[in-house]
Amino acid sequence: MALWGSKSSKVGLLKKVPLFDGLTDRQLEQISRLADEVEVPDGKRLAVAGETGRELFIIVDGRATVKIPRGRTVRLGRGEFFGEMSLIDGAPRSASVTADEPMKLLVVGQREFWELLAAAPPIMRKIMSTLARRLRDADAAFSECP
Ligand code: CMP
Repeated sequence: MALWGSKSSKVGLLKKVPLFDGLTDRQLEQISRLADEVEVPDGKRLAVAGETGRELFIIVDGRATVKIPRGRTVRLGRGEFFGEMSLIDGAPRSASVTADEPMKLLVVGQREFWELLAAAPPIMRKIMSTLARRLRDADAAFSECP
């Protein structure tokens, strides 16, 4: 994975990510210290179901496919995130995630994840509401199983 960008361009980059809409410049600066910018090639496996996961990924550019065990797939794009579940409960990855094309990502480690939520409570609300939606999707898919 390759690093890119200077600190000031990183804040500029964060301003383009819908997850960070409404945050103050101070909050964006704090986040820029907590997140690493990485570029990954097409086909990169970013999470593997059943393995330990220690990062949250926020998509700046590009698309990824989430393959949930039992065959369901979900596509994620710009502004969306994945990897939050293992950071929250410490359990293995619930799904595998692969880059569908070259991607730019912000990567937040386990310790930095909790700092991020403390620095920017609106992000906590967005992550919680996305988690609730993903849980409802998983329940709906499960109840469709024979
Ligand atoms: P985690 O379990 O850490 O690693 C795999 C990730 O896939 C998971 O966190 C979520 O971010 C993501 N994921 C799991 N289920 C869904 C879903 N139904 N829709 C979108 N993303 C999901």
